Amino acid sequence: MITVRAPATSANLGSGFDVFGVALDRPADIIRVERAERTTIEITGVGSQYIPTDPEKNTVGAVVDALDAPARIEIDKGVRPASGLGSSAASAAGAAVALNELYDRGLSRTDLVPIAAEGEAVVSGTAHADNVAPSILGGFTIATADGVESVDTEIPLVACLPEIAVSTRDARRVVPETASMEDLVETVGNAATLSVGMCQADPDLVGRGMADPLVTPARAELITGYDAVREAALDAGATGVTVSGAGPSMLAVCRGPDRRDVATAMLDAFAAHDVEARAYQTQIS
Ligand code: HSE
Repeated sequence: MITVRAPATSANLGSGFDVFGVALDRPADIIRVERAERTTIEITGVGSQYIPTDPEKNTVGAVVDALDAPARIEIDKGVRPASGLGSSAASAAGAAVALNELYDRGLSRTDLVPIAAEGEAVVSGTAHADNVAPSILGGFTIATADGVESVDTEIPLVACLPEIAVSTRDARRVVPETASMEDLVETVGNAATLSVGMCQADPDLVGRGMADPLVTPARAELITGYDAVREAALDAGATGVTVSGAGPSMLAVCRGPDRRDVATAMLDAFAAHDVEARAYQTQIS
């Protein structure tokens, strides 16, 4: 039996829609795989009752097919589904790494990224790799149609998960179909600033570079209390705040010592809007 820990991730980081992602040091899914004649999936843990165990409908089924690796698969969910923290990606990424080892397929971690992304297509309709890439490679990742780059870095973060469900499929429907040249120029500038910030492990540059005039404003509408929570986090010392992935989690970049205050401020602001939430004091890992 092979056991793999697949970390939660935060995709987009504002200016890097469908491209940027980071691995978080917590929460995580645990995936166990064992060779079998026929694939079966057993799911326990947070939100497991909402996840289909039919391999045709589960994110790991596509990974099994791509690697031709039938197995008895146990998934212990630490990452809540529909959270914006890469729940389906963690399972797909973990399964890809575990099955590659179980069947000695010899693929590199980078080779496994597009395979795990096929699992994402089952859930959201698009094989975006911005969650599976950091879950497999760690650190900060840039996933494009031409490949993946990854950078090891350490940036303190708070990921605040409200008790609201937003499906990736629904959140993709509100993404604008076109962009003005002015917004594109701003977004490219911000994305470049963020990338430099990641390479230099500089929370100020990363926070500034998360600003996004295109996708985030549309997605923020789906999150009760978004503006107030964002303001509260910035007042408590966060250098930038955005929607984590497709939401509803919100991601705040911190300098370090202020992380606890940022987490408390975000929870209080959600509570003021009658929204229960949970805050993970975490970091890129
Ligand atoms: N880039 C994807 C989206 C991530 O924002 O729709 C989903 O977690």
